[in-house]
Amino acid sequence: MLNKKLIRTFIIIALSLLLVRCQSQSQADAAESVSSPDGRITVTFILEDGVPAYKVDRDGQPVILPSKMGFTFKEAAPLHQDLRIVKVKKNAFDETWTQPWGEVKNIRNHYQELRVELEETTSSPREMTVVFRVFDDGLGFRYEWPEQENLTDFEIMDEQTEFVLAGDHQTWWIPAFWENRYEYLYRNTLVSEIASREVSAVHTPFTMRTNEGLHLVIHEAALTDYSSMALRIDKNHTLECELYPASNGTKVTASTPHQTPWRTIQIADNAAGLITSYLILNLNEPNKLEDVSWIEPGKYVGIWWGMHINKYTWGSGYKHGATTENAKHYIDFAAEYGFDGVLIEGWNLGWNGNWTAHGDEFSFTTPYDDFDLEAVTDYAASKGVRLIGHHETAAGIENYEAQMGDAFALYHSLGVKAVKTGYVAWGQGIKLRDDRGYIESVEWHHGQYMVEHYRRVVETAAQHQIMLDVHEPIKDTGIRRTYPNMMTREGARGQEYNAWGADGGNPPAHTTILPFTRMMAGPFDFTPGTFDLLFEDARPDNRVNTTLAKQLALYVVIYSPLHMASDLPENYEGQPAFQFIQDVPTDWQDTQVLHAQIGDYVTIVRQDRNSADWYLGSITDETARTLEAPLTFLAPGQTYVAEIYADGAGADWETNPLAIDIYQVLVDNKTVFALELAPGGGIAIRFRPAAPDEVNTIPSYQP
Ligand code: NOJ
Ligand code: CA
Repeated sequence: MLNKKLIRTFIIIALSLLLVRCQSQSQADAAESVSSPDGRITVTFILEDGVPAYKVDRDGQPVILPSKMGFTFKEAAPLHQDLRIVKVKKNAFDETWTQPWGEVKNIRNHYQELRVELEETTSSPREMTVVFRVFDDGLGFRYEWPEQENLTDFEIMDEQTEFVLAGDHQTWWIPAFWENRYEYLYRNTLVSEIASREVSAVHTPFTMRTNEGLHLVIHEAALTDYSSMALRIDKNHTLECELYPASNGTKVTASTPHQTPWRTIQIADNAAGLITSYLILNLNEPNKLEDVSWIEPGKYVGIWWGMHINKYTWGSGYKHGATTENAKHYIDFAAEYGFDGVLIEGWNLGWNGNWTAHGDEFSFTTPYDDFDLEAVTDYAASKGVRLIGHHETAAGIENYEAQMGDAFALYHSLGVKAVKTGYVAWGQGIKLRDDRGYIESVEWHHGQYMVEHYRRVVETAAQHQIMLDVHEPIKDTGIRRTYPNMMTREGARGQEYNAWGADGGNPPAHTTILPFTRMMAGPFDFTPGTFDLLFEDARPDNRVNTTLAKQLALYVVIYSPLHMASDLPENYEGQPAFQFIQDVPTDWQDTQVLHAQIGDYVTIVRQDRNSADWYLGSITDETARTLEAPLTFLAPGQTYVAEIYADGAGADWETNPLAIDIYQVLVDNKTVFALELAPGGGIAIRFRPAAPDEVNTIPSYQP
């Protein structure tokens, strides 16, 4: 009897002990949430059995399902398990800051922050903090390693951050780890359709649309002292961070204190909402340059397109483009039509022969005999124009680093304010590598070595008051906020692909995809403005696949603080459409998106930062369409003259690209303007307040 009672008591005690244990176990597991200021986005950090993860919901619906976090190291245990929470801090932040130049003047940086300080439960614990910032337009998170005894120097072999998607979304993507860097046409597929033998990972910004119409972009902000992130694609629509490795196989070499770039997820109800998200900039450090008075957006022409269509050569000889005489001709043209700069490529020793193969032979201070650098810069100054310098490195990094300080100093002493750099070739310091094994291995363009190089160039240029336009760049992650001399860059297929692309150039849809993909990273030196769209004499097999009006619209659709008018001067002379390129500014007070459908069409309006004018650019893919544009952005009660550059009757990118209608009508903010776009076409409009007499002489808009 007693025994039975004893046994029962024993069982009850044992069961309660078990229960207590289970409870304490689940108490050690934790979930910490933080929501966006508007409450719609919630990010939850989860620690289960010591393993960290996060998830993202919007309006109560999952956007990112529980996704792993953590790292593996060389010669050290991984940091993705046996963790405990030491401290949790929450913070609110709300501040509006002013861009020295930009697509919009003032940006609100408004977020809720969650900091989770973690420590290993092992005998010599390492510390790591995970920080989440949640904005109304998305979120960013990063890992921080404070200075600590048990983690000093370290080599990351893998960052295991996952993005487990809640569905098999539509995507627009370019392959990572291929030889041509970011210069590929975007493909539109389901996430599940990406993975193939050839494509194991994609670049960011990586853009998606869910079945419900939500738009998502995964990217990174403030890529500093780290390797850039590509996304490895898994069949179960899980994306995993895939860092570009260094030649020794290590992904990142660092020492504490250190932090990763922000991993960002931008979320919008529609495609338009992506374009006006400034989350990437908000996650960068404020301006570090004290004096920014020397930094000026502007427009330029250049001895450039001529090389791409074979009229000139970069190297010396009878077709040398960069001669003193030709430079003066371009300077005259720039001065006459109000351009700020003249880019001159091929001025310096090193271009003869196959320059792409010997970047280590470039001199950045010695001109060719037929180019008098000082005479050219003096002449430019006398005409109120400036030379835009050019440093093509052909990826000879060591050669460039040895000279760049002197080269920037030389340019600065000659009044040059902006330099275009380039990194074509399989490189000397960095021979490009290719996933598919075509090319011998050294350093990637996008690994830590080059991330650090590109940053040293920005800092060195700033010391010499030089603005940068980087071609074959590292992708933009918003560094222009911290270093506003980092103006614009390439990093996608620009206009040049129409000059020589062996695949028919950029198709009409290309520029309707860029604003939502490449341009989610930042400004793009696309170099629009080709007027001689067919250039039959120069390269009969190539052409630009747009109408003329679409070339103009690109000045508004594509944001760049330095915009080029890419064509030869003779192709602009006597062309009424050239007026738009002369008028359009490159520094904006405000940006709004009126229509947006990725890969189909986009309409953007921007307000000039220095006048009351507004500009509109609208473009379509190969499909003709009419888009109704309510002009509600214009100031109420004000009559405007709309200077319109529209596709003309019968315009068609393929059969009749040059047909253009240029006319003026009166409009106001109650007008609903029908934008008529031809196949592969576009429309560009300048809105300026009407002068009193114009109200009586210019006809009103008739729908
Ligand atoms: C590639 C650049 O994109 C192009 O603009 C430049 O002309 C050549 N490299 C030569 O530097
Ligand atoms: Ca290029």
